[in-house]
Amino acid sequence: MNYKEYLWWHKGTVYQIYPRSYKDSDGDGVGDLRGIIEKLDYLKDLGIDAVWISPIYPSPMADFGYDVSDYTGIHPLFGEMKDFDELLREVHQREMKLILDLVPNHSSNKHPWFLESKSSKNNHKRDWYIWKDPGKDGGPPNNWLSVFGGSGWEYDEETEQYYYHAFLKEQPDLNWRNPDLQQAMLAIMRYWLKKGVDGFRVDVMWHMIKDEQLRDDPPNPDYKEGMNSYSKLLPAYSTDQDEVHDIVHKMRKVIDEYDERLLIGEIYLPISKLVSYYGEDNQGAHLPFNFQLLQLPWNAARIKATIDEYEGALPENGWPNWVLGNHDNSRIASRVGKEQAKNAAILLLTLRGTPTIYYGDELGMQDVDIPKEKIQDPQALNEPGVGRSRDPERTPMQWDATKHAGFTKGEPWLPLMGNYKEINVKKEWDQPGSMLQLHRKLLKIRAQEPALQVGSYVPVLSEEEILSYIRKYEKQQFLIVLNLTDSEVNFAPDFEWKGTVEVSSHEEFEGKEMSDKINLPANLGLLIKLK
Ligand code: NOJ
Ligand code: MG
Repeated sequence: MNYKEYLWWHKGTVYQIYPRSYKDSDGDGVGDLRGIIEKLDYLKDLGIDAVWISPIYPSPMADFGYDVSDYTGIHPLFGEMKDFDELLREVHQREMKLILDLVPNHSSNKHPWFLESKSSKNNHKRDWYIWKDPGKDGGPPNNWLSVFGGSGWEYDEETEQYYYHAFLKEQPDLNWRNPDLQQAMLAIMRYWLKKGVDGFRVDVMWHMIKDEQLRDDPPNPDYKEGMNSYSKLLPAYSTDQDEVHDIVHKMRKVIDEYDERLLIGEIYLPISKLVSYYGEDNQGAHLPFNFQLLQLPWNAARIKATIDEYEGALPENGWPNWVLGNHDNSRIASRVGKEQAKNAAILLLTLRGTPTIYYGDELGMQDVDIPKEKIQDPQALNEPGVGRSRDPERTPMQWDATKHAGFTKGEPWLPLMGNYKEINVKKEWDQPGSMLQLHRKLLKIRAQEPALQVGSYVPVLSEEEILSYIRKYEKQQFLIVLNLTDSEVNFAPDFEWKGTVEVSSHEEFEGKEMSDKINLPANLGLLIKLK
């Protein structure tokens, strides 16, 4: 493909905002749309191309917005539709893109659709959800479990049937085998696309269709005591069914009715299955989210092998992508430590494929210890001690050193990190060697260099502790060398090279000329422009 043919989402960087925690404009302790508008200049100056916002729709907030009660509205906590329209306009004015979170697998149990569906067996929306008679023993229709703990089935006394919910019982699963439901959800997509929204991140895409015969899921042979109860079974029949690809294709067709819009799928599956979500002839999701960097141990050999596995598994013309953090996983700076988090940033922003940055990771924000009595996440409250709380990675963005880090004038909905006086946007913006400076430099060079945006990926054979590769486009080549350990290692690849360090985890290396064999100090990461 010629450089000019690549679209914004091939070349650009996506930034995820968890709206409750980004910036509170009205002092209620919860972030909102006007808060995000205030910070758009920051995002533009940082070098972000597209912003994805977790759900902002009306919701009882049983799962903090992933339980939608009106798919075409705005929750009053976040603002009004006119605030949203202004946000969209302001994003576009800065030549950025706006991606919304679409939650099609389930609605809230307070959604009018569900209220109708629940009202009687004969209601015309009964079949919009997954209702079944009790099993032979009067219990649930099969053994399917809820990701958040316990059975996936909830009994309704009035109509004497069970409904299925892959997550909370307040999040009943929609029945994607029903054509009317399909049309209703596709119409919702069109509503936002017509407004000018640039695409969707589709929640739990691999869950959307379940086995028609509702066969029992098999036991997981690797389950061990202490793991969350959902891991007792392998979700062989409750997720990732063949028919899901027809649904994804239908969504893609709607996306393609408009110019240059983007379809991202949230999919936690092994690479071999993940890539099937690109669809036949790439007519599925543009970007099935690749969560490998969230899941792998921080080990050069493992990561190297996985990059190759992914590159090798991608369908022809399937565009890669990499995610380093999100609102469901421990933050990178906590997972690998402050030093290595810098190398992780270099990796994310120099690998081949669209990067997604989680808000606050550009500062080196860490997981925040939340005292038991302040836990908010239903995943933790439902299965105390077993379900991992996601609150630690959802704490308020750290803007400056003032009270509550400049996030709110009220009481923040989750506590802030104690270190916010050091780790914040204001302090780090111009601070030599800060995590934020590193991100600014990486995003800047990425935006200038076709080799880093769309260039090929060539693995470099070297010492085991080192992750190294070349990005290449026409005559331009960059060499990336990352020491993933905290001891010194020699880097001696089997070819001759010469170049200048453009960006480094240790800024004193920037501008240095280097060649052939080098001693890599502990934790050092280098982005070198080859001559
Ligand atoms: C995935 C979302 O990322 C997560 O936050 C949510 O709890 C579940 N889907 C259910 O919607
Ligand atoms: Mg607010």
